[in-house]
Amino acid sequence: MQYELAPMEGITGYIYRNAYVKYFGGMDRYYTPFIASTGLNHKELNDVLPEHNAAFMLGEEENAGSGETPPPRLVPQILTNRAEDFLAIADRLRQMGYSHVNLNLGCPSGTVASRGRGAGFLGVPRQLDAFLEEIYKKCPLSVSVKTRIGVADMEDWEELLGIYGKYPVEEVIIHPRIQRDFYKQPIRWEGVELALQQWERTGSGIPICYNGEIHSLAEYQALRQRFPQIRRVMLGRGVLKNPFLVKQLGQWENRLQATGDAGDENVREPETNEDNRGKQSSEYCGIGGYRESEAGTAREQRRKVLWAFHQELLDGYRKIMSGDQNALFKMKELWAYFGESFPGKEKALKKIRKAVSMAQYEAAVREVFYSKS
Ligand SMILES: Cc1cc2nc3c(=O)[nH]c(=O)nc-3n(C[C@H](O)[C@H](O)[C@H](O)COP(=O)(O)O)c2cc1C
Repeated sequence: MQYELAPMEGITGYIYRNAYVKYFGGMDRYYTPFIASTGLNHKELNDVLPEHNAAFMLGEEENAGSGETPPPRLVPQILTNRAEDFLAIADRLRQMGYSHVNLNLGCPSGTVASRGRGAGFLGVPRQLDAFLEEIYKKCPLSVSVKTRIGVADMEDWEELLGIYGKYPVEEVIIHPRIQRDFYKQPIRWEGVELALQQWERTGSGIPICYNGEIHSLAEYQALRQRFPQIRRVMLGRGVLKNPFLVKQLGQWENRLQATGDAGDENVREPETNEDNRGKQSSEYCGIGGYRESEAGTAREQRRKVLWAFHQELLDGYRKIMSGDQNALFKMKELWAYFGESFPGKEKALKKIRKAVSMAQYEAAVREVFYSKS
């Protein structure tokens, strides 16, 4: 299975990606949050600068065939509906050493979609076709697409699949929701079924990567059962909630390959705050989503890794941001997800949300990590 880290604007910038690779890793690809300005603004430029991304491979796989595992690939994502802007941004990225870019056809935000960009571009298939024709003709980099399956309904999805099938799309990442579903409506599995059927019928060799709501091992297992032919999965909020997630999925896959047995006592279903309500924290530790019944040293080890990861992020943001308030804001944004790695710690998590100074924040974080309840 190929695992990919989803782009998440405001969270998975280079500080997060570098800290994640250092303490967890396990992804084959990482995507940058979208770049939308032709000139690359300060934030966008910093995010893709090669010196900020030394842990990643920007160009072609140099070590192919050497027997060494190449570093994971970093793929910058572009959000635009103007071919000339796409080509201008791609050219800047090529000059920095990148060999691959991704097109955002999934952003559901009202301001983006109403201007015909992101998922909004899916509402005008003919214009999208013309755009793709031009970029695939002129762009020297390989281009993948991250797409939703429609705007107001799924009516155009078949046509859109036909359009993608005309071009040498490096990979199609499908988030099976329409623009109006935003991030909360149920997944439309029929969108994935249609894509797989159409691909099979037309003999398209374009790899499909599935994305959406794989936030636990159980959700991953259900996906594998439903679509065993899918060999690529992009993970987003599940990793923010539980950075050990990809390791758990990989362990399960290895076990499956080795023994053909889908059950694994060592790979446990991550606990969530939701599951844990009302239970004693002595019974459920939940560090990194594992149960308390595990050996204490393994749990302690995971706590240490999460702590080091947290400190690396905090230090990183404090270094690049002006003033602690901005770093505080950034960390709180992450805790909206990361907090799920600490079931039973609701009181301390609330203190993080309410912290107005760095001192208050750091005390609340220590409480989350090290208090008994
Ligand atoms: C805070 C946030 C920011 C996001 N930013 C981007 C983005 O820049 N580009 C993009 O293609 N998708 C973006 N997404 C969508 C995710 O990449 C992903 O498709 C979505 O979260 C569904 O996957 P998940 O259920 O695994 O999180 C964002 C999602 C969130 C929650």
